[in-house]
Amino acid sequence: MNVEAGKPISIGICGLGTVGAGTLALLKDNADEIRMRLGSDLVVNRIATRTLEGKDLEGVANTSTDVFDVVNDESIDIVIEAIGGYDPALEVIKQALANKKHVVTANKALIAEHGNELFEIANQNKVVLAYESSVAGGIPIIKALREGLAANKINWLAGIINGTGNFIMTEMASKQRQFGDVLTEAQKLGYAEADPSFDVEGIDAAHKLTIMGSIAFGIPLQFDKTYTEGISQITPEDISYADELGYCIKHLGIARRSEKGIEMRVHPTLLSKSRLLANVNGVGNAILIHGNKVGATLYSGPGAGAEATASAVVADLIDLARHIQSGAQSSVYPALGYRDMHEQISVVDIEAIEAEYYLRIPAVDRVGVMAKISNILQEHDISIEAVIQKEAISETVPIIILTHSAEEKRLNQAIAAIEALDDVAGTINRIRVEPFHGEAE
Ligand code: NDP
Ligand code: HSE
Repeated sequence: MNVEAGKPISIGICGLGTVGAGTLALLKDNADEIRMRLGSDLVVNRIATRTLEGKDLEGVANTSTDVFDVVNDESIDIVIEAIGGYDPALEVIKQALANKKHVVTANKALIAEHGNELFEIANQNKVVLAYESSVAGGIPIIKALREGLAANKINWLAGIINGTGNFIMTEMASKQRQFGDVLTEAQKLGYAEADPSFDVEGIDAAHKLTIMGSIAFGIPLQFDKTYTEGISQITPEDISYADELGYCIKHLGIARRSEKGIEMRVHPTLLSKSRLLANVNGVGNAILIHGNKVGATLYSGPGAGAEATASAVVADLIDLARHIQSGAQSSVYPALGYRDMHEQISVVDIEAIEAEYYLRIPAVDRVGVMAKISNILQEHDISIEAVIQKEAISETVPIIILTHSAEEKRLNQAIAAIEALDDVAGTINRIRVEPFHGEAE
């Protein structure tokens, strides 16, 4: 079908790596589809990236290595920041907004850590900072939370929100592959952050949870209050013991309204194998959101990679193009979901949360050790749900305990007391269990 195009929308791209190049390719591949939806072309008129050699820049009129060339080009309507990191990305966004250009970014680190300031600058300049691609790759989760579920009071959300981490955990569990080997593959596939410790140590997931939590609960972005634990301490033994108990281990981001405030935490989690989230594998992401009226809703799809992320970047471009076509002011376009961040709900300290726990205790193979451990748990008011005692590995015998719900502070005290026993040789590995009690999927 031939569609006569209206005035083209002029796009500038900063950074031509996985996301930038993926976006450029999608805009070319789906140009006809986009024109049909929008009635206009999205034309990339300028690209700036650190290294031009070896990049496919065909059809792009202006190229350079200075990203501020894009930001200061008067002909550009929308700037895509696909550089990543903080410097010069933060300045690029600030400058673009100050120059009254709409900005699309996939940079969750910047949104989570500098978003409060950046949205303010966008507001002052009556332009939009769009960030759909910053959370969960190709899944339109920002739209779902901010618009689709806007009628609900959000009770909780829980999700697998780092593709690299889920890819590593899946390959370790299903193919017994080594951690480092799978991480290298994730890097080659374009899933990992420039600094992969952001994926492995949970920082990337914490950035994403911070953003979702802010939208869900109408609180300011508070990355520094989000509890963060990565997957580097998870061993093949933990995966195998969890499996014996009917669980798998997933790296989850959980944000929940509780009587004490808002829980915001990212950590490895034991999930019953029958749960929907337990069956999300590879680079897949999935987020369950529980609204007080709709109940639980699930969103899943690819969480990283060039095409999935470009899908979300271009969705933002199309929204912004419609916004430009309508002549609307940015104040009608929601940034985080609440017009004012008015809810003064505090984020709960991790020691105050209540959870169930998996403990792997490296006990010395002696009579009476199990009784001593049970006594300590009892003294701290922690009851045991299940125990497995494994065969002795050299001097030690791993004891695996699943507890009922307990306050984390008490659990930490009990762990310290157990580790102090002569009968325990080393540190205890603790993984939280998420039963979703009374919160059916
Ligand atoms: P890449 O490292 O693949 O790409 C970054 C690009 O920016 C490269 O082309 C790089 O140049 C260029 N660049 C870096 N520094 C500068 C600079 N100072 N001046 C000009 N250009 C510069 O990263 P990704 O594309 O993977 O990620 C970009 C952003 O998107 C990050 O914020 C990331 O968190 C986010 N994201 C990534 C996803 C993914 O699946 N990869 C998914 C969702 C979000 P050069 O080519 O010379 O290295
Ligand atoms: N490194 C990120 C991940 C990219 O693996 O999920 C997508 O945000």
